[in-house]
Formats: sequence, structure tokens, C-alpha cells
Amino acid sequence: MRNIPIALAGGVATLAAGAAGAQELNLICSADVVVCERLVTEFEASHDIAVNMVRLSSGETYAKIRAEARNPQTDLWWGGTGDPHLQAAADGLTAEYQSPMLEELQDWAVRQAEISDYRTVGVYSGALGWGYNTEIFEEKGLTPPQCWADLLNPELAGEIQIADPNSSGTAYTALATLVQIMGEDEAFEYLRALDANVSQYTKSGSAPVKAAARGETGLGIVFMHDAVAQAEEGFPIEVVAPCEGTGYEIGSMSLIEGAQNPDEAEVFYDWVLGADVQSIMPEAGSFQIPSNVNATPPEAAPDLSEITLIDYDFAQYGSTERRTELLARWDDEVGGVGVE
Ligand code: F6P
Repeated sequence: MRNIPIALAGGVATLAAGAAGAQELNLICSADVVVCERLVTEFEASHDIAVNMVRLSSGETYAKIRAEARNPQTDLWWGGTGDPHLQAAADGLTAEYQSPMLEELQDWAVRQAEISDYRTVGVYSGALGWGYNTEIFEEKGLTPPQCWADLLNPELAGEIQIADPNSSGTAYTALATLVQIMGEDEAFEYLRALDANVSQYTKSGSAPVKAAARGETGLGIVFMHDAVAQAEEGFPIEVVAPCEGTGYEIGSMSLIEGAQNPDEAEVFYDWVLGADVQSIMPEAGSFQIPSNVNATPPEAAPDLSEITLIDYDFAQYGSTERRTELLARWDDEVGGVGVE
């Protein structure tokens, strides 16, 4: 991995520079940093392209790409929830591309491409739920919540963490899921009540269950695969699929409009959709369902066919109008300051 310029208070410092004329790729990765780094290592080992990678949450990436629209600093955005990718597509911030790999992908991944006029594509999927620390629950005599409604139990005061939906695609998926399950006004009433039990709104979506794994909080509302990742690492985390049903993500990938390295970006794009590459994700602790039909789904991945999934309306909740409106209402009525 090539070092990248970092912004300092007094200006910009460059840690190291690549050889002039060398092929390079500026990548934003919105999944877990461990899988992001693994993908970069594998790609660089098999290609003569140096990758400058940064990990940013989904909403943060959308904001960065939007801010840089006139002078894009990013070539490719891999991972992160689909809604902000769809919003970027609708805003013309991402470029149309029909990969030859599309024919190897699951229908849900291709549908993501179709509804965005091929400006994004599905790379993995996973359902929303939570993970709780069984030791903390036992010690404090708390009842493990099985339903969204149970999370409002006053005995859980201060025990819950969830991310801020402005920065995190996970938390935006939770917001949009609750609106689709309950209706908008009822969902905001629910979120205001939930706020009494929330100790912290984190910046990154998976941070809450990492905190629960370390015993810093009782429960984290996250994608179930992120809770599985902590359980697989040996932490006392139990994974729950909410009884009323739940939403899910189609983690996505988009080429940036006006990218400085569009050819290199296409090479990575086609490569990362391959079955072999998607099959290594579990080795890096990532347990989403891969989008390539020939990739091997991780054994520990939550079985989506056993979870009550809502018919998540990606076109609506990934639209600029709806996402902007819901985030503004969340700021007004729930609020929160991202910390991690
Ligand atoms: O940690 C992996 C993951 O849950 C992905 O499945 C998802 O797309 C991404 O993180 C969302 O991260 P954030 O909520 O920080 O935008």
C-alpha cells in the first residue's frame, strides 16, 4: 500500500510518494478496515497498480465525494451501504459502467445496478440486528431483547450504542428500516424513546458491537454480520434478528465521475467482483453474503432465508430527497454527536 498525503493543522504533509508515472488507484473503502486492507494487499500482489486506500463510513464518503465533485480525489468507492451509493448515482457523482462481471452476480446485486443506470453495483448483503454481551447481561440481570420494542425497556438505560446515521450507512439503514416497519412519525417517536437508552452515537456503524465485545456497553445495534465477527473472535456476543422483521443492506461499489485513474478503477472493479476474491472475505473477518453467485458464502454468515426481512425500498430510501429529509429530521428530533 502506498502512503497517502495527510492533512495537518498547518497544511498537508506527504508521507511518501510513488514513482512518477506509476499506475495508481485512489480507493475509499467503507467496509471493515481489516477486509479493506486485505483486498488492497491481494490486489497489489497481482497487479502493477499501487492503491491509496482510506477507510471512511458510508455517509462520510458520500459527503466527501460530493464536496470534491469539481476536482475528484477518489477513483473508486468500494463497500458501504447501498443507499448513499444510490444517492451519489442520482446526483451524477458516480460514473456509468457495465462490468463484464455483471453476469456472474446475484439478482439483488444486478438490480442495484439497474436502478442506478449502472452507476453502482451490489458487492455483498447483510441484515440489520444487534449483538449483546452475554456476560454483562447476566451480571446485571438484564433481559436480552429479541424485538425492536424490547430495546425501549428502561432497564437498558445507558446500555445501547448505535451509530449516527449522518456518518454511518448502518445507522441510516436502521432509521429507514424503522420508518418502513412503523411509519415515519411512529419511527421518530420510537427513536426519541430509544435515545433514553443510548449512551453514544458512534461515527462508524460497527463500533457499537465492538464496544459491546470489549465490555464497554451492553448492546450494539449493527449489521448482524458485524456482531458475528465479534463472536467469531471469541467475544461473548450473542447475535439477534429482531422479531418484528428487519432491513438489510446491499453493500455497493461505484466508480467516481471524473476520476483521475478511471482505467485502474475499472481493473479493480472487475477484479473485486470475482468469486475467488469475494470468497476470501471471511478470512479477513467479514461475514456478509457475497454478490458473485460462485463465491462461497461464509459458514458463519447469518442465513438471510431464516430472518424476517422487510421489502426494503432501496430506490426510495436511496433517493436524495428521502435521505436528506430523514437525516434532517433525525438531527432535529434525535440528534447525536459522532465520537469514534
Ligand atoms: O463492517 C462492515 C459493514 O457493516 C458493511 O457491511 C457495511 O456496508 C459498512 O460496514 C457500513 O459501515 P458504516 O455504517 O460505518 O457506514
